[in-house]
Amino acid sequence: MFVNKAIFPVAGLGTRFLPATKAQPKEMLPVVDKPLIQYAVEEAYAAGVREMIFVTGRHKRPIEDHFDMTFELEVALEQAGKQELLDVVRSVKPDDMECIYVRQAQALGLGHAVLCAQRLVGNNPFAVLLADDLMVGEPPVLKQMVEQFDEWRASILAVQEVPAEHTRRYGIVAGTHVNEKLMDVSRIVEKPAPEAAPSRLGVAGRYILTPGVFHEISNQPRGVGGEIQLTDGIGGLLRREKVFAYRYEGKRYDCGSKEGFLQANVELALQHPELGKGFREYLKNLEI
Ligand code: G1P
Repeated sequence: MFVNKAIFPVAGLGTRFLPATKAQPKEMLPVVDKPLIQYAVEEAYAAGVREMIFVTGRHKRPIEDHFDMTFELEVALEQAGKQELLDVVRSVKPDDMECIYVRQAQALGLGHAVLCAQRLVGNNPFAVLLADDLMVGEPPVLKQMVEQFDEWRASILAVQEVPAEHTRRYGIVAGTHVNEKLMDVSRIVEKPAPEAAPSRLGVAGRYILTPGVFHEISNQPRGVGGEIQLTDGIGGLLRREKVFAYRYEGKRYDCGSKEGFLQANVELALQHPELGKGFREYLKNLEI
């Protein structure tokens, strides 16, 4: 039993980034030189996942094109002798990686998006990665979680401490500590008000789940915002199986918000092997 499948829910409208997302998926917005979705796919690949399942919607074709072969481009680069760029283009989809697309016809919530992939996942453990959350960690955050999964053979949720005034943005967990990094979850609440939050540990957009969660999602009533919530399905699951919350090592950029997206661009540009040095100089000389 190992984690070979990952679900990427990418059907969302991206209204927070209008007009940039009027005619292109928000997951294709680049941070420095790579689209957000590619960061998430690379993280899954680094964790050993080889089957990438995208739950898409209308206007999401650019994502399919991005992970497809771009024949004309490759020929042109080859003829021009631009080997480095050719490698960059080809590495987007390594040969041993499979991409599968399934449509979420109606935007009924994150839990519903995950349910759309049920038949493709079958009776296997799987990861869920929300591309809005750009995670930078070494080892990559999902890999850290797979290591926990291998040890505990149970669902693992990535969590971080969030400010009290931000509990409304997250699924919030509570439970008993197993060790410094791991909590045995006894409760999970989607987007509670600060006074109702059972803790300040918020779920980041990385999950490893056992297939039992599908049944639980299907059995929950509509949750916050009238949506079918993944959090509520996990709430059902933890009454039957162990679910652990794992404090990952690394940094999360909330690229679903403009601030987080800009921070990711600045910080990743500073770390970029070619741009970093010059960009640092530029920022130093900027009169702010
Ligand atoms: C979703 C989940 C929430 C989780 C968050 C992480 O919310 O419903 O539980 O904490 O992702 O980014 P969204 O940000 O899609 O509203």
